[in-house]
Amino acid sequence: MCGIVGYIGTNDAIPFLIQGLSKLEYRGYDSSGVAFNADGKIEVIKKQGRLKVLEDILNSNPEKDIKLGIGHTRWATHGKPSDINAHPHISSSGKIALVHNGIIENYIDLKNQLIQKGTKFISETDTEVAVQLLDSLYNGDMFETIKKAVQMMQGSFAFGIVCADYPETLFAVKKDSPLILGIGENENYIASDIPAVLAKTRKICRLKEKQIAILTANNVNLFDFDGNPAEKAITTVSWSVYAAEKNNYEHFMMKEIIEQPNVISATISPRLKNGNIELDGINFTKEYLENLQKICVVACGSAYHVGCVAKYFIEKLTKKPVEVDLASEFRYRSPIIDKKPLVIIISQSGDTADTLAALREAKFLGARVLSIVNVVGSSIANESDDVLYTWAGPEIAVATTKAYSTQLSLIYLLALYIGKILHTVSDEEYSRFIDNVESLPQKISEILRKENQIQQIANKYYDFEKIFFIGRNIDYAVCMEGSLKLKEISYIHSEAYAAGELKHGTISLIDSETLVIAVATLDEIFDKTLSNIREVRSRGAKVLSITTEDKSEKISQVSDEIIYIPKSYSTTTPSLSVIPLQLLSYHIAKLRGCDIDKPRNLAKSVTVE
Ligand code: AGP
Repeated sequence: MCGIVGYIGTNDAIPFLIQGLSKLEYRGYDSSGVAFNADGKIEVIKKQGRLKVLEDILNSNPEKDIKLGIGHTRWATHGKPSDINAHPHISSSGKIALVHNGIIENYIDLKNQLIQKGTKFISETDTEVAVQLLDSLYNGDMFETIKKAVQMMQGSFAFGIVCADYPETLFAVKKDSPLILGIGENENYIASDIPAVLAKTRKICRLKEKQIAILTANNVNLFDFDGNPAEKAITTVSWSVYAAEKNNYEHFMMKEIIEQPNVISATISPRLKNGNIELDGINFTKEYLENLQKICVVACGSAYHVGCVAKYFIEKLTKKPVEVDLASEFRYRSPIIDKKPLVIIISQSGDTADTLAALREAKFLGARVLSIVNVVGSSIANESDDVLYTWAGPEIAVATTKAYSTQLSLIYLLALYIGKILHTVSDEEYSRFIDNVESLPQKISEILRKENQIQQIANKYYDFEKIFFIGRNIDYAVCMEGSLKLKEISYIHSEAYAAGELKHGTISLIDSETLVIAVATLDEIFDKTLSNIREVRSRGAKVLSITTEDKSEKISQVSDEIIYIPKSYSTTTPSLSVIPLQLLSYHIAKLRGCDIDKPRNLAKSVTVE
């Protein structure tokens, strides 16, 4: 959503604020700003546009001796991107300035109450209501003021707050929106995510739900919303700044595509002990699994697409019915949750608001929640009964790739683990599947070596405006992800379609200006998919097929382009067939001159509904 940072210390604050924000631009980048205490007065400098615009302003008129400041990079929700609506927002008295990530759901009521008291508003944002509320409550004691204000605000908010009367103190608040503290030497930091502070420190403290932090240059104190002191759990980040850097790739997305073999190995090997799967202390009893009526998988976007693959895989190996839901639908459809079903929540960021709300709904209805998450200590991880972390490392590009692939690999292990306990998977099948999953990194490396071929195909079709992805069964689930990747970064309005469904209407859209990408990897239904490919070809479409060598004879008769992937177990082919789709989307977007890492209108972690 948005990225916030803050600094209090003995060095210059501005360089940290800008450098920190540059690491958070993947969260939103339509405007940015900073506020700082200059000689006891709060100054705000903010501007619509990328961070570079703000940086140029600050460099053209460098502020000296600034030891306390907050910064923000925005993804607009309430009030269009503009200089006025940009953060930080300052109170009418000029005493308090604030940056915010999240949404204050009852801001209109609060705004009306403040207007009645004579408060004047200049922006359209919910955030300005927060700073004006603090101002109206302020009695000289900022901690007391914050405590009162947070009781009156509903919704999600991570705040960084400075007050003119506290030139040596930085205040922060966390409720339903991510916020970490960075612990330094004679300086301390706040940020929405770890990459913002890594250049300064590896010691971080993740704020828990409903906490207030008070930071000075040499001290950090935590309190709950009632003012009771709270423990601060400081952890040391293992991954390097380099891991959060581009490593000489032009885009984070390409770096993260290339990292997939390694991060899949990093994710599966700690869970494979002597040919057996051990899932981080998760213990499902045979009795619990036997009594399990159904398994639900709930997520958003690409994580939901992992769920669509998971349905086929888990049902096949556990013989348990699997329901897959979009989190934003799940939470409002009054799902039938009885007999303590297992709800699997999937999320890269672990802070996607719809998914977090769906998790809470599932728990409220009595489900056991297991989440597959990439960000350690994120809200979804904290609130789940069981957590399986994907060890993909920081994923910076908005369009997910390596998180998708590591989530898939954990789904394979989870289904095998359950199948083993339920004896729905034979010992022989179990070890063959494990071998197959362990072979995925090497097979993916093989496909990554075909990048040139895929780039040439992109050269031919990057200006096509009508692109369909078709497939059946698990191939169709991969088509959904392939189409989302292309849409996200190239802005081509593509569509994924169940191959057998086309003839029931949508085939009317197919003509000679259409590219159809057919994913046809499954032996048992290959001929069915082949006939669907013939249907679109006969209507003039160009056809790019993704399949395995053993099908070359038949597929070459109906395809203009073919990308072959190594043979694998049918149910794990999604981990292979998605790779050419990621690379194709990347190169098409690049040829169209799109901002691949920061696509328009998108943000990496959608922390609002
Ligand atoms: C995928 O490329 C997108 N970034 C988006 O669809 C994403 O998958 C979705 O917002 C869910 O995010 P999460 O995995 O962090 O919960």
